[in-house]
Amino acid sequence: MGLKEAMLLSFATCFLIFNKGVEGTRTTLSEVVQSPNESAMKTITTEAGQVFDCVDIYKQPALDHPSLKNHKIQMKPTSIPKRLETEKSSAKFTSNYSQIGMKSIGCPQGTVPILRYQQNVLKKATIRSRSRSQGSRINVPHSPGYHLTMMAKTKPQENAKYHGSKTYIAVYTPPMLPDQFTEGAMWINNGPPDQLNSIQVGWTVNPTLYGDNRTHLFGYWTADGYKQTGCFDIRCPGFVQISAATSLGLILEPTSHGRVQYEGLFHVFQDSKTGDWWLAILPHDLFVGYWPKYLFTSLASHANQIAWGGEVYSPRDKPAPPMGSGQFNMKDTEVTCYARAIEIIDESYQHRDLRFIEIITDGFSYNHCYAVGYTGFVRYVGYSVLFGGPGGSDCFN
Ligand SMILES: *[C@@H]1O[C@H](CO)[C@@H](O)[C@H](O)[C@H]1NC(C)=O
Ligand SMILES: *[C@@H]1O[C@H](CO)[C@@H](O)[C@H](O)[C@H]1NC(C)=O
Ligand SMILES: *[C@@H]1O[C@H](CO)[C@@H](O)[C@H](O)[C@H]1NC(C)=O
Repeated sequence: MGLKEAMLLSFATCFLIFNKGVEGTRTTLSEVVQSPNESAMKTITTEAGQVFDCVDIYKQPALDHPSLKNHKIQMKPTSIPKRLETEKSSAKFTSNYSQIGMKSIGCPQGTVPILRYQQNVLKKATIRSRSRSQGSRINVPHSPGYHLTMMAKTKPQENAKYHGSKTYIAVYTPPMLPDQFTEGAMWINNGPPDQLNSIQVGWTVNPTLYGDNRTHLFGYWTADGYKQTGCFDIRCPGFVQISAATSLGLILEPTSHGRVQYEGLFHVFQDSKTGDWWLAILPHDLFVGYWPKYLFTSLASHANQIAWGGEVYSPRDKPAPPMGSGQFNMKDTEVTCYARAIEIIDESYQHRDLRFIEIITDGFSYNHCYAVGYTGFVRYVGYSVLFGGPGGSDCFN
């Protein structure tokens, strides 16, 4: 498609972060995962081969978090942000995009699916290292390495107040080597780097975390700049699952190939009454669950920056992994990974497209390995961010 607008992009900044070592590892998990868990009312193996225990919603691991001792589970948001009539201008569906299929896991009512991890995988994945650098996060243990994000984000502004974002992200399965990972994601942030509050959602291929090379729905949170709090999915207490049908960690399929792009809808919004941060995904804006306000400090009231893009990690002895589709072509969105029809939720809890919002990118293409670009408004597609690249063996020199 001829995207004139797409060529008016500004290239974004990227952060390359060298992690010199593991500083401060910690294990958060043990109580979260038992396999099998006695309190499972039913165990389900999905077609993709994942094993979920259906656990009583009131006995889910999230409630082990000290701040959630007397937490009353919210079965649904008290209010759902009103959508502006942006459909006409930006978020209109075209038949050119396919939605990722999401079959219900099928836990009984009153229970939530808890992914059963392989113990050996689990052990590795619970150890995280702390990084000195802003915005970085390593989930791979004992392997200091290269960490890179390529993102477009709202311009920092003193009084910026956001309550969420919604976007369609194209979903891919780039090949990973052991201990690497790649992500296509949305970030909801607040706070200075060393106390960063962040919620991240999207898709990832992360063999260390999941023990396979497949694409998974993931969520991540931290309330202290990746130091002591937070984790992926529900690997530490925090995210409260509500849905009996779906779960963080779920394998997403099919994924994009060739010019056939599958996309998922990722929608994170803050409940205006409770302050909790909800995650909804396709199909039908299904509520997966929420990160209670009590997990956070600055994010408890609002976010001050939102970003969209990709992220990769690799140990130093391996070539840099692919990001997105493994290609970047600003003029050919059908082969490039994107976040499109982006909306933010403003301080009055209204969905808005990016018309009046200044978006900055992390500058430029990185060593011909990765790039990110903001397209502005594109007809039928909306306000979009393109990101990705092949990686390679001379990226990080
Ligand atoms: C099963 O999981 C629940 C919720 O995570 C936990 O409270 C309980 O202790 C676990 N049961 C066993 C037998 O491990
Ligand atoms: C959708 O696909 C059709 C045919 O494949 C093409 O002609 C059209 O330009 C595409 N529309 C968009 C918005 O990409
Ligand atoms: C993932 O793919 C890589 C490269 O083919 C392979 O070396 C690795 O063993 C695979 N990992 C898993 C967990 O299957």
